[in-house]
Amino acid sequence: MSIRIMGTGSAIPNKAVTNDELSRFVDTSDDWIKERTGIESRHIATGETVDELAGNAARNALLDAGADPSKIDMIIVATCSAEQALPCIACQVQKYIGAYSAVAFDLNAACAGFLFALNTADVYISKGIYKNALVIGAEVMSNMINWSDRTTCILFGDGAGAVYLERDDRPFKFIQKSNGLKDDVLFCWQRDSMSAFYRGVQTYKYVSMDGKEVFRFATRVVTDTISELLFDEGLSPDDIDMFLLHQANLRIIETISKRLKADISKFPTNVERLGNTSSASIPLLIDEIRKEGRLKEGMKIVMSGFGAGLTYSACLMEV
Ligand code: UT7
Repeated sequence: MSIRIMGTGSAIPNKAVTNDELSRFVDTSDDWIKERTGIESRHIATGETVDELAGNAARNALLDAGADPSKIDMIIVATCSAEQALPCIACQVQKYIGAYSAVAFDLNAACAGFLFALNTADVYISKGIYKNALVIGAEVMSNMINWSDRTTCILFGDGAGAVYLERDDRPFKFIQKSNGLKDDVLFCWQRDSMSAFYRGVQTYKYVSMDGKEVFRFATRVVTDTISELLFDEGLSPDDIDMFLLHQANLRIIETISKRLKADISKFPTNVERLGNTSSASIPLLIDEIRKEGRLKEGMKIVMSGFGAGLTYSACLMEV
């Protein structure tokens, strides 16, 4: 048993911010950002919250599938940027969409979060514990960014994507890995301690990143993990119809396509318009290509993501 995507949905904040707009308050330019990242604009929350975006994406996925919220068994939200620590975003989505019989919890694997959540849903469903699940990636990354740091503020965007899954017997295979030894490459210490006994030093509370190291890591592990997954299944990149990669940077995607010797036309992107939306990037992309009619019955797709942790994953799925 495995899973099949029955519906998809998304939600993005209204405000689009261009590179030129950013260049008014940090020392950067449209040319630099486009050349190094491929990003032209991103949507930034001006009040929209992670739970609100997640709830709207979830509602749209259920409408797309024609699914009844009261029959949902499980909701997993992948996020690393929730404004509210408790309760988890998934429980807030449960209330918002009226999925009162679902079990709901969040998962944080940074930008690889959506795939970790999808893999988790597959395990629950394949074991026969649940019949269906809503898996959501939702982020308001703009809350975690130092808007005077040009090395990070140009990269990220906000949004949420959701998929509604049901049990099926199509192939679904995944690999997921973590390397906590590299926890200093990309990190964010977000909250001040409220403890009356706390005597530590409060540190930098924004996303901090060694961009070059992340670039090297991403191009290596995504290529290796996809190759390993395909080798295990006796497949080659030629057998794959579409590669849906975490949308961090166009140069990363182009490098991976070259290393896999897979045509770049098989790699749809949204990073140009949405920036790096962390765990939301892959479900936002799935929703876009499904709505464009590009996801066809029987297609083999590979998804792969990477992020802070470091974490990474690849999965193979039949549409
Ligand atoms: O989900 C995972 C998220 N993270 C990523 O995907 C990041 C992966 N890494 C990257 O995409 C790239 O490393 C970046 C786009 C972040 C940076 O590109 P780069 O080619 O590695 O540039 P760099 O850090 O080597 O910087 C080159 C120059 C530096 O100036 P000097 O030292 O050569 O004078 C930087 O200070 O560019 C400067 N620079 C900028 N200039 C204009 C850095 N950021 C900017 C900027 N605008 N926004």
